[in-house]
Amino acid sequence: MVLSKGYIMKNKSILEPYTMRFIMPEEIDQVITLQDYIYELLPNKEIFYRDPKETLLFEIERGGRIIGVFNHANQMIAYRYISFPGESEDNLGLDIGLHESQFKDVVHLETTLVHPDYRGNRLQGLTLEKALEWVVPFGYKHMLCTVSPYNYFSLHNIMKAGLNIKSLKKKYGTPGKDDGLWRFILHRDITSLCINNPSRYEALEMEKIKEQKQLIESGYVGYKLHKESHLIHYTQDFCQN
Ligand SMILES: CC(C)(COP(=O)(O)OP(=O)(O)OC[C@H]1O[C@@H](n2cnc3c(N)ncnc32)[C@H](O)[C@@H]1OP(=O)(O)O)[C@@H](O)C(=O)NCCC(=O)NCCS
Repeated sequence: MVLSKGYIMKNKSILEPYTMRFIMPEEIDQVITLQDYIYELLPNKEIFYRDPKETLLFEIERGGRIIGVFNHANQMIAYRYISFPGESEDNLGLDIGLHESQFKDVVHLETTLVHPDYRGNRLQGLTLEKALEWVVPFGYKHMLCTVSPYNYFSLHNIMKAGLNIKSLKKKYGTPGKDDGLWRFILHRDITSLCINNPSRYEALEMEKIKEQKQLIESGYVGYKLHKESHLIHYTQDFCQN
């Protein structure tokens, strides 16, 4: 199923057509190849948790989807993976105190990757818009995701799409081995039209883990990432719906 078509710039200089569509389970190896390629190039490996092939196939079986973006040569140049955790214990609703009865209304924004040659085309934002268009008619209400406090580009795009920081904790650990990686947990009620423009806020650097944790634990929500200063704005004066 084609979700959209259009034109994008390769290396910010060559105009190319692209197609956005759901990928099929038999195309999963292309996802893994792109994931491994981008992972190897990352200066800070901590910002990105690689999804095992088995997890992706399991999630597709459970209703999840991978939106792929393909160039004129039908090569995958970007993807966004979304999942529907339902009652399972990996539902991020648990991390932000959602009531169990709401778990069925949760959609997770999982990994998004864009090949370095095609960055700057807003593909992270465009695939998120398509994911939203797709889930809303099914009645999903809560969109949740995790982002590393060291991943400015991803955090900027996710917060621009209206998701707010509700928690900061270690995720993806192995019991008895390591306690995982620092992650913000972000949330948006996709049925709400509420826009935050508080008169009072605190601004903190994204890497200041301890200070942000303290603020969040005392009831603050991160609602904006300032583009120039890279400071996150937190407020207690937060509209919920
Ligand atoms: C996060 C990511 C998906 C964003 O890609 P994107 O949708 O192409 O980003 P945007 O189009 O919003 O880019 C906005 C600007 O930031 C720049 N930019 C985006 N990602 C960048 C990166 N990783 N490094 C340097 N600059 C980057 C773009 O070139 C663009 O610059 P411009 O305004 O001068 O044209 C991409 O950086 C990526 O794949 N990163 C590695 C994997 C990752 O961290 N994924 C998210 C967690 S799962």
